[in-house]
Amino acid sequence: MMKYISVAIDGPSGAGKSTVARAAAAKLGYVYVDTGAMYRSIGLAVCRRGIAGEDTAGIIATLPEIAIQLTYQDGAQHVLLNGEDVSEAIRTPEISYYASKVSAVPEVRRFLLETQRNMAKNGNILMDGRDIGTVILPDAPVKIFLTASAQSRAERRYKELIEKGQQVTMDGILHDINERDRQDMTRAVAPLKQADDAVLLDTSSLTLEESIAAVLRIIREKTEEK
Ligand code: DC
Repeated sequence: MMKYISVAIDGPSGAGKSTVARAAAAKLGYVYVDTGAMYRSIGLAVCRRGIAGEDTAGIIATLPEIAIQLTYQDGAQHVLLNGEDVSEAIRTPEISYYASKVSAVPEVRRFLLETQRNMAKNGNILMDGRDIGTVILPDAPVKIFLTASAQSRAERRYKELIEKGQQVTMDGILHDINERDRQDMTRAVAPLKQADDAVLLDTSSLTLEESIAAVLRIIREKTEEK
């Protein structure tokens, strides 16, 4: 019997997972853990050392030099890489690329596994990632697989980027999304897949508010069942 409640939210990129998860956690007073930020921090460390994304041995060799910590300020998660707050620095396309490369290395996943599991021992948490319900917290009482069609994820991303003034095409974005899905789902270690006992939530036709409400409803139903 787990002392605290863990909620595992997995799903592909661009489904609005982190926004929905963060809002739901705030509403419930749970600690929100964005595991993608941990992979991104390792990606940043690797990138700064000038190691290529394909250089698996180089990536593994940097692990002993890396310490990652999550801290919370006014409820917002901050990620520290060897004591430096890198919360902003990890949100660039270059680091997205590195994060995806390092996350395919089994040693990197093993490196983060205990840290992620330990976080669930200290309080109620809502953890978002790709393998939380399948690998990290297989006994989590609540598992949600949050997804949306590639087309609707592409439309959201397109709007976001156009609003930021970037020059992008729908075709290009849709292609990138399909490519990232393929990589995430076919990698050898901890591929993105729905846990057998996860509730599938497709947000293609839901607004952000409706998605948050749906997540809260699933959590309430699952925790009341116990
Ligand atoms: O969710 P995100 O875009 O911040 O994730 C960054 C990268 O890390 C992405 O390529 C998927 C990977 N990732 C992972 O493999 N396992 C997780 N639990 C979380 C993220």
